[in-house]
Order: sequence, then structure tokens, then C-alpha cells
Amino acid sequence: MASSTAFPGTVSADSINDVSGSVWPESAKRNAAGALEIDGVDVRDAVTEFASPLFVLSETEVRSRAARYRAAYTSAGAHTVYYAAKAFLSVAVARWVTEEGLGIDVASGGELAIAMRAGVPGDRLLMHGNNKSVQEIDMAINFGVGRIVIDSFEEIARIAESAARHNVVQKVLVRATVGVEAHTHEFIATAHEDQKFGLSASAGTVDEAVRRISKLPSLTLVGLHSHIGSQIFDAAGFEVAARRIVSLAQRIYDEQGIEIEEINLGGGMGIAYIEGDDPLDVDAMAAEIGEIVAKECAEAGIPLPALAFEPGRGIVGPAGITLYEVGTVKRVELDHDQIRTYVSVDGGMSDNIRTALYGAEYTVTLASRLSFAEPVLSRVVGKHCESGDIVVRDCWLPGDVTAGDLLAVAATGAYCRSMASNYNQLPKPAVASTRDGALATVLRRETIADLLALDPYAEERG
Ligand code: LLP
Repeated sequence: MASSTAFPGTVSADSINDVSGSVWPESAKRNAAGALEIDGVDVRDAVTEFASPLFVLSETEVRSRAARYRAAYTSAGAHTVYYAAKAFLSVAVARWVTEEGLGIDVASGGELAIAMRAGVPGDRLLMHGNNKSVQEIDMAINFGVGRIVIDSFEEIARIAESAARHNVVQKVLVRATVGVEAHTHEFIATAHEDQKFGLSASAGTVDEAVRRISKLPSLTLVGLHSHIGSQIFDAAGFEVAARRIVSLAQRIYDEQGIEIEEINLGGGMGIAYIEGDDPLDVDAMAAEIGEIVAKECAEAGIPLPALAFEPGRGIVGPAGITLYEVGTVKRVELDHDQIRTYVSVDGGMSDNIRTALYGAEYTVTLASRLSFAEPVLSRVVGKHCESGDIVVRDCWLPGDVTAGDLLAVAATGAYCRSMASNYNQLPKPAVASTRDGALATVLRRETIADLLALDPYAEERG
């Protein structure tokens, strides 16, 4: 029987309805009707209003997580905690995080335009990108973006030229690759300078960039930047990165007399996607990183610089879920007489590419009702023309899941809507926010008319 196998971790029919675990939004619960509720909003009502598939983002939780990150990292020595907009950005989200005291890290003209439209002050913004266009640089400098992170030699001249043209002295950081790549449970501290981002800390390339910047009157170097990876569960990778950045700062001071006032250690703080994921909590991670930097600076004999961080996933990831409607259910016989139940939903790899792209794992629950049917080994798949179109590879769902049921996938607030596509010409889902029992539109659902509007040959014949 499916439920007696050890894969992917058995569940009882009783616990399968549970939404109290750390992967679900803090406010998630079952209401009297057995339906999932977020911030007091019944997900069935959300789908009635916004259609399925639907991203639901708890405003309450984005705000509380933003505030928590700001408090934790400020206590650990940060002057600014930037929200990494790539995780998910809209005007509403930009306003929430700004109101909670965060800056915003933008990595394109599009992200910058949204932050600008939200009214985020320029000095709260920092711009990234390994190939910023001249237009993007001009846009950033014209708006008064507080910091631009330099990622290449070409950019030094481009940014200097734009700043001179705008008659400003632009604050910049240099992004250093420190030979550390960190993901989830492990980090590797060799060989990862072989990548497109930043300039090498060990090869003297950062030193050369600093030398060039110091000669340009329209640029002022404020610091060094390092981002070592994403979905990191402990502080070990940050320790190596901090040590290397601090020794780089020391060398720059010794050799060029330039003091590094600011060290930005990027983002990457991990979250739980499935039961068993156990990242350090926000306060513990911040405290550990803060202590590490303080220790490294003390050992190097340099004053503690102002710190900055750029969490993205940690702020929005756990605050979001995706709702899908089930369309078809197929039972497929596997070897050893096992059955896998393929549950097809009305979205898929166009709204969540992470499973196909990274082998990401997710938690799913039947959201529109309770069920005490025997759990069956299931795979939640999308509606795209590709067998790799999988949303949740291995999960247990009640054996009576059927067309019309709503499923909820947890922890989809980061890197799902922001990485969405129109594959198979599916319109992108809406994003609805929840707060105090009320729903609001963060992004409306795309329509087929939106898709047709891009195509000049698609004008309706009169
Ligand atoms: N700062 C920089 C310079 C970054 O490149 C990133 C992420 C962040 C901050 C924010 O990292 P976070 O705290 O969100 O981990 N699409 C992938 C993640 C790519 C992250 C790219 N850079 C995913 O879905 O897992």
C-alpha cells in the first residue's frame, strides 16, 4: 500500500490536514469548514475573487518578517537591511518593506522603476547587476540611487561618466568574489571564483578596481560587497566570506590608504520548504554573522565597518502560498505494485519554475476542505506540454482529491511569481494580499488580452 512505503516520508491521515508547521504562513489555519485560512481569509473566497491559480501573500507576515530582519541585523551591526527585490517586487511590497525600515536592492531598470513608483527614496536604494545598461545606470543616477555595486571594470567608466554628466558624486561598492559558494546545508570554499559575478578578491582584481575608482572624481568608494549564495541554513559560509572580505579591506587600507567604511554581505538566508528543513532562525543567524565580522575585524586590527545585508527569500518566501485548482487525477502504476497519483493543476512551471530548475521541494495540502481519506503517494503536476512540468515531485495527498479541489503549495512567496513566464501562453496569476481578514490586489491576473496586446498582428479584424 502506498502509505506504508518510506518514501517520501509517510504521513497519517490525521496529520495530512495540518498547516501549523513552519513552512506555512504564521497565520495559516483550518477554519470551521476545514478550509485553509490566511490572515483570516478563506482561500476559497480568495479564488472566487481572483481566480486560480493565485498567489496569496500575507501582508502581515511580509511586514513582520521585514521588521524582524531589520531589528536582528541592526542589532548585529547593520546600518541598512536591503530587501532583495528579485525575490518578488510590486509597488505594494516596495511600500511595505520601506515602511518597515528596509532599503531595497534592485537589479534592473524594471525593479528600479517599481521602487521609484512606490515612492522609495533614492538613498534607500542600492543597485546591482553584472551587466547594467547605460540606460539603467543613467536611470539610477538620475533618481539618486544611494549606492551602485560595481561588478566589472567596464562599469567603473560607465558609472563615472554618467555621474559626471549628472554632476553628482556617486557612492559605489565593489562586488568581490571570495571563493565561497554556499547553499542550504553546505558551502564550498574553493574554486567558485569561476562565475560571472563580481571581481576576484584573491587575484588582486578588486584592489585594481579600487585603485581606478579612487582616481575618478565622480565616484566615491564606500565599501565592499560579497554575496555567497542562496538558501543558506547556517553561518559557516558567511564566516569564510567575512574573513576574506576583512583581509581584503585590510590590504586595501595598507596598500592604498583607503578605508573601507561598509561591508555588504548580501543575502541568502534560507527558509523551510519542507518539514525537516531547519535553517537558523533570523535572530540567531544575524547574531552569528555579526559576531563573526566583529571577531575577524578585531583579529585583523581594523575598525568594525558598517554592515549591510540583502535578504530576499527570507522576507517574502514564507509569507506566500500558491493556490491551484485540481483538474485531473490519474493513477499510474509504478514498479513494485506502487501507485503514483498524478494530480494536474491549472498552473505549473510557468508560475513555479523552481522544481524543474533546481529540483526544489515543496509542501502541499488540500486547501478547500479537510479529508481523512487514506493518503496516497502523489505528484502535483502542471498543465504545460512538458513532462518535467512538476510542481511538487513527491508528496502525500488524501486519496479522494478530485477535480475542483483547491491545493495550496507553501513558501512560494519568493522566486515564483518573480520568475514566472508565459509558457504555453498562460497568463500569469494574480497576487492577492491578506491582512486582518481582508484581501487586496497586489498584482492583477494577466489576461489573454494582455498577451495579445503585445502582438501587432493580433489586432482584431473589423
Ligand atoms: N543579494 C544579491 C547580490 C543576490 O544576488 C541575491 C540573490 C540576494 C541578495 C538575495 O538572496 P536571497 O536572500 O533571496 O537568497 N532564483 C533562485 C535564487 C537566486 C538568488 C539570486 N540572488 C531560487 O529560486 O532559489
